[in-house]
Amino acid sequence: MEIRIAENCGFCYGVKRAVNMAQDTSNHLDHSYTLGPIIHNPQVVANLENHGVYAVDSLDEIPKGTVIIRSHGVGPAIYEEATDKGLHVVDATCPHVKKAQQDAKSVIDSGMSLVILGEKKHPEVISINLWAQNKGIVIESEEEAKILPFVENRGVVVQTTFSQFKFQSIIDILEKKTQNLKVFKTICTATQERQNSAVDLAKTVDLMIVVGGKNSGNTNRLAEVCRDVGCTTYHIETAAELELAWFNQVNTVGVTAGASTPDWIIKEVIDTMNEFEELLAKEADWAEDFKK
Ligand code: F3S
Repeated sequence: MEIRIAENCGFCYGVKRAVNMAQDTSNHLDHSYTLGPIIHNPQVVANLENHGVYAVDSLDEIPKGTVIIRSHGVGPAIYEEATDKGLHVVDATCPHVKKAQQDAKSVIDSGMSLVILGEKKHPEVISINLWAQNKGIVIESEEEAKILPFVENRGVVVQTTFSQFKFQSIIDILEKKTQNLKVFKTICTATQERQNSAVDLAKTVDLMIVVGGKNSGNTNRLAEVCRDVGCTTYHIETAAELELAWFNQVNTVGVTAGASTPDWIIKEVIDTMNEFEELLAKEADWAEDFKK
């Protein structure tokens, strides 16, 4: 059985940076907390907890110490509140998200209308809009774009993980509904690169294993795109979920992982698959011997 790994997979730049910052904080400071889980990966969150970095839902739960802002970012009020409480702030907001926040702010500061392309309930989109005094209109479909009114000046900021294709078709609609349209294409290529690599690989293998948190949007999307090209696909969080039967009669297996999946989990999955391969080879030998 041949195991092939997607060219682009696993931690993206912003997630790697955020996890490193959280680990670094745990090495040097006591009483450290992340506002929400640092990434959508339960194993990484549990690992940080073992090193004294706890995920909390609000600043009210932090009596003292350090608050780590995760890669999705937060609104300006959180920085003020944390400073007022005397907390030390470690800002792990991904620089790409920070740029989107600042662009949204500049659109509102210059008196233009703001449209944010993204998922309304996603923490990143919420944080971008908070930097724009919550004045942005969040849309995620062509249908929603079509019902927006005509305005003279409009700025557009985009959720970093938004689809490139959808982005273009929505912009085409907004161009007809705006006299001066200023587009900040704040899409990060990491997600698209991972999806492209997953699709390329899924087309060439018998089976795909997608590794990452079940609560991770980008990992779920990777599994979706692999299934869309007709490849049998299993989405697992850890090696413990792998089943020997999946690999019976399989010649090539592809492996990919979401942007929030650490290397050590990917390695455990590959090691387990190699063990399965040995077991299956032994079973095949026994079957041959039995025939004789
Ligand atoms: Fe940042 Fe892009 Fe990752 S926005 S958190 S590098 S997917």
